[in-house]
Amino acid sequence: MAEIVRKHGHRMSMNRRDEVGKEKWAKHYSSNHQILLVGEGDFSFSLSLAMSFGSASNIVATSLDSYDILIKKYNRAKSNLGILRYFGAQLLHGVDSINMKLHTDLRIRKFDRIVYNFPHAGFLGKESDHLVIMMHKNLVRGFFMNAIDMLLPKGEVHVTHKTAHPFDTWNIEELATQSGLTLIECIDFKIEDYPGYNNKRGDGKDSDLPFPLGKCSTFKFILSSQAMEYLTTSHHRRNSQQPQEIPLQTGNARMDSNPSSIMMKSKECFWIFREYFNHARLTSGKTDDYLPNSVKDMLRIGFERYNAENHGKPLDGYVHLLKELHSLSKERVTFLQRWLMEMDHYRL
Ligand SMILES: C[S@@+](CC[C@H](N)C(=O)[O-])C[C@H]1O[C@@H](n2cnc3c(N)ncnc32)[C@H](O)[C@@H]1O
Repeated sequence: MAEIVRKHGHRMSMNRRDEVGKEKWAKHYSSNHQILLVGEGDFSFSLSLAMSFGSASNIVATSLDSYDILIKKYNRAKSNLGILRYFGAQLLHGVDSINMKLHTDLRIRKFDRIVYNFPHAGFLGKESDHLVIMMHKNLVRGFFMNAIDMLLPKGEVHVTHKTAHPFDTWNIEELATQSGLTLIECIDFKIEDYPGYNNKRGDGKDSDLPFPLGKCSTFKFILSSQAMEYLTTSHHRRNSQQPQEIPLQTGNARMDSNPSSIMMKSKECFWIFREYFNHARLTSGKTDDYLPNSVKDMLRIGFERYNAENHGKPLDGYVHLLKELHSLSKERVTFLQRWLMEMDHYRL
């Protein structure tokens, strides 16, 4: 380890001396970008960027696993982390992508690039199993929902993902769109663009082994104009401490629209509970045992978002949003009942 640091440290000091301030690129990433890496395995991707930049002072690299677990799971984690630390990276462990924006060290940070390579909720069953796919999708959706609040202007969210079946059924682009992101580019991923990077399974007894990459792409997203508008106005509202006017939505007409387009009407209830609405749409008509818990999770995320966006404010506003949510749920039930009756009528 000391040897590695000596070797790279030597290279870094030469870089520092010769090329201070000179921008360097590693494929999509620049040494001038503030970069957040999420769901790292053995941290070899972060290290590959750091080596290309000759520094890691612009890198925040995170893992879900604690430090102790990482060094048990991955042979090279300890030395990779040591070098990254030496190069000036901020290293955070125990960072869950579905609530990372609330993390003490991240809540005040914004980034030019937020990167999650090969998101995967773990080996929970067959990859083609509906429930397994749903777990993966919830992870990616939660990641997007957090990332949108952590971007600098013109910032991008990148997800690298396998695109062959069944991974294509995750519909990465749809998950992003539902979260207020717009796809700007989808580029074939080539591991040789990142020297030293070792993709890891990241779960189970073979965590440290690579998985076959096959066909995979880097999906690049920016904030949609509607999300940008909402975030700007909600930021303005928070800063100016104006009382919030929460428009109550009524009328069944809304129920037959696509919920993701409803969400983009930027009303606060849809914004705060956006995971809940998307979840309701995706699981409509399904009866999995998993649903009661996942619905609770979606509501909890809404509560956390409300708290994060309204620090220290009384909970009256939240209660108002819950009432609105309740009235929308009742409308939905009424709508579904009417719709079923119409279906019966036509069948007769
Ligand atoms: C297939 S591995 C990929 C690891 C690494 N990104 C790579 O490219 O080698 C999936 C990673 O997602 C992480 N992960 C799973 N659930 C997560 C969550 N809720 N938040 C953050 N990371 C998560 C796992 O710990 C694992 O490191």
